[in-house]
Amino acid sequence: MKPVLAFVQVRKTYPLSGGKGSRHALCEATFAVAAGQKIAIVGRSGSGKSTLLHLAAGIDVPTTGQVWVSGRDLGRLSEGERTLFRRHEVGLIFQFFHLLSHLSVADNVALPAMIAGENGAATQRRVEELLVRVGLADRRRDPVQKLSGGEMQRVAICRALLRRPRLLLADEPTGNLDDDNGRRVMDLLLALADDEGAALLFVTHSREFARLADQVWEIQSGQLRVPEPGA
Ligand SMILES: Nc1ncnc2c1ncn2[C@@H]1O[C@H](COP(=O)(O)OP(=O)(O)OP(=O)(O)O)[C@@H](O)[C@H]1O
Ligand SMILES: [Mg+2]
Repeated sequence: MKPVLAFVQVRKTYPLSGGKGSRHALCEATFAVAAGQKIAIVGRSGSGKSTLLHLAAGIDVPTTGQVWVSGRDLGRLSEGERTLFRRHEVGLIFQFFHLLSHLSVADNVALPAMIAGENGAATQRRVEELLVRVGLADRRRDPVQKLSGGEMQRVAICRALLRRPRLLLADEPTGNLDDDNGRRVMDLLLALADDEGAALLFVTHSREFARLADQVWEIQSGQLRVPEPGA
C-alpha cells in the first residue's frame, strides 16, 4: 500500500542573515509513514521539528529532495495547488489552537468547509458527529473565547478532522495545556486518528506522551533518527 507520507532525501536549509552560508534546519531525511501509524517527534528547541511538519504539510518546500503525500509529489504542485491539496489531505493542529475567537464552536469546526464553499447538510452532520466525539456538542453555539484551553484544542482537532484527511500533523498540541488536559487531548487525538485510519505525526516535549506513539523519532540539530523497522 502507498504510504500516506514519504520523504525522499529531504533537506531544508535557510540562508544565514548577511548572506554568508546557510543553516541546515533538516539534514537529509528519508522515511515513509503508513495509514494508521502514529509517530512522536522529539528533540530540543530549534532542532527542526516544526520544519519537518511544515515540509510534510507543504507549507514549506524542501531545498532538495521530495515530499510525497498520498502518492502526490508536492514539489510538482504550484503553491496554490499545494494549498488546495493540503485542505483536503492534511489536518493541522497547533500549540496555540489558531481558532477564530469570536466565532462559535460549530463554525470554527466547519470553517475548512465554509472556505471551500461546501457548508451543506453533510458538513453540519460531520461537525455534530465530531463535537459529540470530543464531548463538546453542548457547547456548539458558544463563542470559542468562552472555552478552556483543553476545550479549544478539542475544537481544533475537530476542525483538523472535518474533511477526513489521511495525514494529521500536530505541532506540540499539548504545549499550552496542563498535564490532565494534555493527556485528555493526546488520548483523543490518538483515538480519533485510529477511528479515521489517518497517519499521525505529533511533536511533543513530553516523554510520557511520546511513549503513546507507535514510534518515537528524535531530531538533533536537523538530523532525524528513525528507528529501523522492527526495532
Ligand atoms: N524561516 C526561517 N528562516 C531562517 N531560519 C529558520 C526559519 N525557520 C526555522 N529556522 C531555523 O531552523 C531551525 C529549526 O527550526 P524549527 O522551528 O524547526 O525548530 P523546532 O524543533 O520546531 O523548535 P521548537 O521546539 O523551539 O519549536 C532553527 O535553527 C530555526 O532558527
Ligand atoms: Mg517548533
